[in-house]
Amino acid sequence: MSKIRQLRTTDLPDLLVLSQQAGWNQTAADWERTLALCGEFAIGVEEQGQVVASTTAIRYAQDLAWIGMVLTHTEHRGQGHARTLMEHTLKHLRLAGIHWAKLDATELGRPIYAKLGFEDECPIERWKRPAGKGPETRRPPLVHDYIVDPSFDRAYFGAYRVPLLNALCKEGAAFVVGYGYAMGRAGAQAAYFGPCVVRTRDAARKLVEWFLSNHPGQELYWDLFPDNSDAVQLAIDYGFEPARHLTRMSLALRPGTAPLLRNNASVFAIAGFEYG
Ligand SMILES: CC(C)(COP(=O)(O)OP(=O)(O)OC[C@H]1O[C@@H](n2cnc3c(N)ncnc32)[C@H](O)[C@@H]1OP(=O)(O)O)[C@@H](O)C(=O)NCCC(=O)NCCS
Repeated sequence: MSKIRQLRTTDLPDLLVLSQQAGWNQTAADWERTLALCGEFAIGVEEQGQVVASTTAIRYAQDLAWIGMVLTHTEHRGQGHARTLMEHTLKHLRLAGIHWAKLDATELGRPIYAKLGFEDECPIERWKRPAGKGPETRRPPLVHDYIVDPSFDRAYFGAYRVPLLNALCKEGAAFVVGYGYAMGRAGAQAAYFGPCVVRTRDAARKLVEWFLSNHPGQELYWDLFPDNSDAVQLAIDYGFEPARHLTRMSLALRPGTAPLLRNNASVFAIAGFEYG
């Protein structure tokens, strides 16, 4: 007997099995943060007391819901769990009056989302720097502790995601006054650079060096838009290489909804495939 229900922190051991099986980077702290941000929109399939599939959706005000953590246990794949959880999520997002749903799709996930009406928006890539590779950096002096500025981030990301930024901020954040900010956090496999929203490549360089100087000798991940040539060049300069190719996809939940205005040219790093 299987049932769909809201995920809770007591499910963390099962949820970590799901992300580890897929080779993903989420820690228990990441899952916990995501469950807190999603509330009733973090759902899973339970079978015999075990969570065997998951889907999360974080609402960024009414404008947008970001879908992530679409995972099915390897022994329970091909039984319709991912499709059922996605259909359930989209139905409840529509009932909640959310305008758009977006996600970053792996090759395994993309056909499922396309069948549900999602359309390709742009490519997105994971870049990786192996431990001990890349140039040495020193912590630059121009960076200060960050206080989230909602209107700045919204102008580039396209929706109000302050609760997410406030949560990620606690893991490590910095900004260059008047130019933009970056954050970083630990991961199961690699330390993670992002989000980073900043107006110029020079200011972005300072923020990258801030992150690198905080994680000497560690393996590092950085998710970026390959169309942002400044971000790509910086990643190359600091010894990163492309490791995974995904597709950002979007779905208007209400007919005739206006597109969200965004500006990827200043998004040097996303917040995470599960966050946007
Ligand atoms: C992608 C994933 C979540 C699918 O989970 P699942 O529960 O097995 O998927 P479902 O059984 O609901 O299948 C949904 C649809 O996709 C199809 N599908 C699923 N896996 C497939 C595969 N490997 N190849 C081809 N089609 C596949 C199914 O036939 C089904 O089609 P239908 O709706 O027309 O019947 C699972 O493979 C997984 O956890 N992968 C690793 C993590 C990942 O990449 N997640 C997606 C993140 S964007």
